[in-house]
Amino acid sequence: MPTAMIIGASRGIGLELARQYAAAGWRVHATTRTPAQPGKLGPLSGDINLHELEVRNAGHIAALAKAVASEGIDVFIHNAGVSNRRLSRDEVMQINAEAPIAVTQALLPAVERGAGKKIVLMTSQLGARYGSSRRLSTYGESKAVLNDMFRELAPAWGQAGLIAIVMHPGWVRTDMGGAAASLSVEESARGMRQVIDGLTPAHHGRFWTWDGREHAW
Ligand SMILES: NC(=O)c1ccc[n+]([C@@H]2O[C@H](COP(=O)([O-])OP(=O)(O)OC[C@H]3O[C@@H](n4cnc5c(N)ncnc54)[C@H](OP(=O)(O)O)[C@@H]3O)[C@@H](O)[C@H]2O)c1
Repeated sequence: MPTAMIIGASRGIGLELARQYAAAGWRVHATTRTPAQPGKLGPLSGDINLHELEVRNAGHIAALAKAVASEGIDVFIHNAGVSNRRLSRDEVMQINAEAPIAVTQALLPAVERGAGKKIVLMTSQLGARYGSSRRLSTYGESKAVLNDMFRELAPAWGQAGLIAIVMHPGWVRTDMGGAAASLSVEESARGMRQVIDGLTPAHHGRFWTWDGREHAW
């Protein structure tokens, strides 16, 4: 069976992606900041392998890459992210913009060894700069910077045979999205898995939504 790696799977969308891939029979590598307390991931059934990862910790990133050095990752999803509540602008930038690139770069060899060769970075429609004179929030700015860095790297990743995209998961009922959001984690994760299943080289380097629509930058 294929292998998925979900970065940031302790709760919310990441937890549900891990649950659905494992339920579909995939081997899953799931990261949390505290794997010794697996929380809701613990009782899940299936081939779920937990790893410790604080996404700003270079030692954790190197250890994760080493832990999967003998296998390939078919689908790599960097999901971990924060809203700008209670955190400084620098922290939000580090977690939402810099870390996804650093973690992905470290795991590229594992994705290159996989058959699927798919990379998904979780962004947000709030990070789109198009057609708007509104000022982005710190959160939106962090996702816009992530999108910019992704677009710079995408050509090299494409040349390496990878299919990499950024994805908006919809407005989802999680701690971040809030109770009023329009989608359940099940609907969002199911939609994203379908989109990821259908990715071809033609999708590479672009911005997609959870239900398969292309999003403007
Ligand atoms: N929910 C929405 O409506 C929505 C909309 C657009 C985009 N998104 C994006 O979708 C992704 C998931 O969102 P969500 O709604 O599921 O959020 P969530 O419920 O708040 O979960 C965030 C996840 O990221 C992890 N995380 C945060 N900072 C981390 C760090 N420094 N190191 C390691 N892990 C860290 C959290 O781990 P801990 O449990 O350890 O904190 C948790 O697993 C995020 O990138 C978010 O920006 C969400």
